Amino acid sequence: MDRLPGFRDFYPEPLPNNDVWSADIRNHVFDTWRSVARSYGFSEYDGPPLEPTELFTKKSGDEIVGQLYNFTDKGEREISLRPEMTPTLARMAAAAERNYKKPFKWFSIPQLFRYERQQKGRLREHYQLNCDIIGEDSPAADAELIALLIDCLRALDLSAEDFVVRLSSRNAWQDFFDARCNDPAKAYEFYQIIDKLEREDPAVSDEKLAGLGFSGTEIREFIAAGEPTAELKLIVDDLAARGLRDFVKIDYGVIRGLAYYSGPVFEAFDRKGEFRAIAGGGRYNQLIRLISDDKVDLPALGFGMGDVVLTELLKARGLLPELESDIDVFFLIEDEALRPRSLRQIQKLREDGYNVEFSLTPMKGNKQFKRAQELGVEFTIRLEGEMAVVKSLKTRDEARLAPEELTDYLVDTIVDRIDEQNV
Ligand code: HAM
Repeated sequence: MDRLPGFRDFYPEPLPNNDVWSADIRNHVFDTWRSVARSYGFSEYDGPPLEPTELFTKKSGDEIVGQLYNFTDKGEREISLRPEMTPTLARMAAAAERNYKKPFKWFSIPQLFRYERQQKGRLREHYQLNCDIIGEDSPAADAELIALLIDCLRALDLSAEDFVVRLSSRNAWQDFFDARCNDPAKAYEFYQIIDKLEREDPAVSDEKLAGLGFSGTEIREFIAAGEPTAELKLIVDDLAARGLRDFVKIDYGVIRGLAYYSGPVFEAFDRKGEFRAIAGGGRYNQLIRLISDDKVDLPALGFGMGDVVLTELLKARGLLPELESDIDVFFLIEDEALRPRSLRQIQKLREDGYNVEFSLTPMKGNKQFKRAQELGVEFTIRLEGEMAVVKSLKTRDEARLAPEELTDYLVDTIVDRIDEQNV
């Protein structure tokens, strides 16, 4: 039986074929995301993968609502798999904001589900790093968040030649809209057309714009002028002070598809323009108030970075890491009479923090050794009489020790080697 279209199987390396994804690469991306988010003082949170459908129909906007995996559960509740994390975060923040000093900076790596048309960079499930700052109005928070986004990509070895953050402003677009149209109900429809400008046939966009009383020419002129608002200038100056100016450009071609954005917005793209957006986000100062039915009013901002486009980009640029085995020791059991004592040593080594592999059933000594080599382990250990024989597969050195000396020996050998490499 096949998996559903738009869903992925994650296998351990080495991968069986090109049609599956690597669980090891996924860990590499998640570990990098986590460590960079923590270096910026963000704390991890999570929420339920299923939510009342209303949470999303209320505030995300029509586009994402059309993509919901929604159904009625056995208790007659209307529920939906989460297509994005922001409404859940807004709900959680509103419920518990009194317990946290403002601003609070939170991150999460949820799996999200959208019933989209499958295409390059777009699947029906993806993982998304979400980083959000709650309770801060200052553009310093926008700059902090964009710096974090940039550093997540730099930590994966992408440079300013590989990607750019296109910074824009819903406020600027709102002013543009208000100056020409006095029906606020049409604003979201207008934003949606602008959001699709680069992906849609210009004639189709122009026709839609004309329907709302706008000309394609005036829109293109506004984007081309790219006059930064005072707020955007502050954000860019802050990023420049961090040495990150090369990673951002003011670009009103970005507006964001989701309904709730209210101020500065941004999207990260590969420079060559080969892929869909790597990440997107912005300010959503009204969402928490709307979701909490006016009970809590807190400014907020954040971004989401998906794993699909990012992994495809890393692959295309040759930046996926060589995956090394994380097994330290293969314990050889060449004589079955020694299995119980070997098991005791294996248990001890694992308790001491080493990753240890061994053959669960009797196997010829040379086959076990071959397996150790295939796994790329650092050491083999075998018991011989009362002693343990440790062999380094890198240096071929052998040492004969009392079993209780094993842990210290391994620590010393590994530390010595690291010291030598650093000389
Ligand atoms: P979004 O632009 O819908 O924003 O998604 C953010 C990123 O998730 C995209 O740039 C893309 O990399 C990835 N992504 C989205 N949909 C898919 C898909 N179907 N397949 C693969 N990757 C996808 C949001 O979701 C906002 N809630 C982000 C946010 C957080 N704003 C404030 N805080």
